Amino acid sequence: MRFEDKVGIVTGAGQGIGEAYARALAAEGAGVVVADVRKDAGERVAGEIRAAGGDALFVEVDVSSPDSVAAMADAAIQKYGGLDYLVNNAAIYGDMKMASLLTVDWDYYQHFMAVNLNGALLCIRACWESIAARGGGAILNQSSTAAWMGAGFYGIAKLGLNGITQSLARELGPRNIRVNAIAPGPIDTEATRSVVPKPILKQILSGMPLSRQGTPDDLVGACLFLLSDEARWITGHVLNVDGGQIMRP
Ligand SMILES: NC(=O)c1ccc[n+]([C@@H]2O[C@H](COP(=O)([O-])OP(=O)(O)OC[C@H]3O[C@@H](n4cnc5c(N)ncnc54)[C@H](O)[C@@H]3O)[C@@H](O)[C@H]2O)c1
Repeated sequence: MRFEDKVGIVTGAGQGIGEAYARALAAEGAGVVVADVRKDAGERVAGEIRAAGGDALFVEVDVSSPDSVAAMADAAIQKYGGLDYLVNNAAIYGDMKMASLLTVDWDYYQHFMAVNLNGALLCIRACWESIAARGGGAILNQSSTAAWMGAGFYGIAKLGLNGITQSLARELGPRNIRVNAIAPGPIDTEATRSVVPKPILKQILSGMPLSRQGTPDDLVGACLFLLSDEARWITGHVLNVDGGQIMRP
């Protein structure tokens, strides 16, 4: 129970990896805000956490909207009295358009970046003061190995998230708030099944040292570690959790 009496927001927790993070935090004692743009999905996850004896609140949020994000932070603080952790996991992924950077519809590109890149920054801006007021805490951004792979606008947003991670680690370090990121490799979620064609997935997996797809549970240990006090001197770090897909010199 590493997170007893602690409070965390997990965005995009209505399914997939965010759901696994929210469940794991709650299982270790945290009050968890399940934040998602999809009401049914988020309510289901929060309800199931409560039914299992955990403490969870669903808050509907669109991370690309400053007003919506501010309302999410307010709702969390009103319910729990303050915040210790923020996990920026929400993204357009499962139903994203496949398009070239040269031709992608400009409005779509701007919306994509507003959610996948700026959304994390908005959430941090809305939450950090509450985290600081409790003496500090931790923020985790959900990056991707796509950041290192020239993967179009999806990869650019993740590379930007890595930059946000490093810049805000500097800005928030003096407030005792650590900012790290996880860069997962291919994870078996509904979203991946809908967006990555099977032959391409097979090709990716065959080139990896641990040549299997990851699961959301394969990421949970890294998420809890980076949030926890065990990682108290780690900040500005992007941790690949990827079966060895990316090895940087
Ligand atoms: N699955 C993978 O292989 C993989 C690999 C690397 C990184 N990631 C990243 O992990 C995260 C979760 O991936 P997943 O596979 O669970 O995908 P997913 O599509 O199932 O989850 C994304 C969640 O974000 C929510 N969301 C979308 N737009 C939102 C918005 N504007 N405001 C609030 N919530 C919003 C969705 O409703 C959904 O619940 C994403 O950031 C993704 O980019 C996934």
